[in-house]
Amino acid sequence: MNNEKKNHTGKPKYESAGTDKREYKTGSSNRSNAARRISSKPKEKPQPTLRKSPKRQLKPGNMLNPVPVVMVSCGNTPDDYNILTVAWCGTLCSDPALCYISVRPERHSHPIIKENQEFVINLVSSELAERTDWCGVRSGKKFNKFLETDLTPIRGNVVKAPMIYESPVNLECVVKQVIPLGSHDMFIAEIVAVHAAEYLFDKKTGEMHLERADLVAYSNGHYFSLGKILGKFGFSVQKK
Ligand SMILES: Cc1cc2nc3c(=O)[nH]c(=O)nc-3n(C[C@H](O)[C@H](O)[C@H](O)COP(=O)(O)O)c2cc1C
Repeated sequence: MNNEKKNHTGKPKYESAGTDKREYKTGSSNRSNAARRISSKPKEKPQPTLRKSPKRQLKPGNMLNPVPVVMVSCGNTPDDYNILTVAWCGTLCSDPALCYISVRPERHSHPIIKENQEFVINLVSSELAERTDWCGVRSGKKFNKFLETDLTPIRGNVVKAPMIYESPVNLECVVKQVIPLGSHDMFIAEIVAVHAAEYLFDKKTGEMHLERADLVAYSNGHYFSLGKILGKFGFSVQKK
């Protein structure tokens, strides 16, 4: 077995860690080449000290944070169109494009999605936060949520479930599998079409700017708008 695990620098982990550790012990005047290379690297900004803290053990539970929060629309006919808010959702696979939503069987939407085998995921912008919350605390058993929230159902291209016109991005989904997990049933679905608002695209270059959607994240019971951009994919290894 090859136990030369690589660290993030791509160098064998054991070799670099061992060498550096041994040589650090002998004092700063006698440091390894690797250590000298790191310390002699010109720093543009002083690096803030990383926060370290003793930990408190909590009751096991879902502390994965933040998560997306979306409005899921379902129903085959205007009479049974409904919207429920879902935070237990995510990406499963790039190709085929698979995602999941986990829904409690007692939700009004549950039998609708199970019967029709399709739904739409509507991404939530800050301006939709209040309506999203409302759809998550009121049931389609008692309310016509499209009417009550003044949201507009429009037809997608593939599924019969309505898309929410006011949402910046809509994902048409076809259910592939339903897995009962306990409190929730997981609907694994293929994303068969994606619709994105025109204002997300640069008029000249055609490039999509999803940040213009002003999307909302959900964390520990609160809705957040996204903060500043910290970097883009791969920025840690890019030349400055
Ligand atoms: C922020 C938030 C996230 C929620 N996430 C889920 C979820 O992932 N799964 C679920 O079954 N219910 C979730 N709910 C609760 C349902 O949206 C809620 O019970 C809703 O009233 C169900 O609507 P329905 O009965 O019309 O289907 C969430 C509610 C809120 C406010």
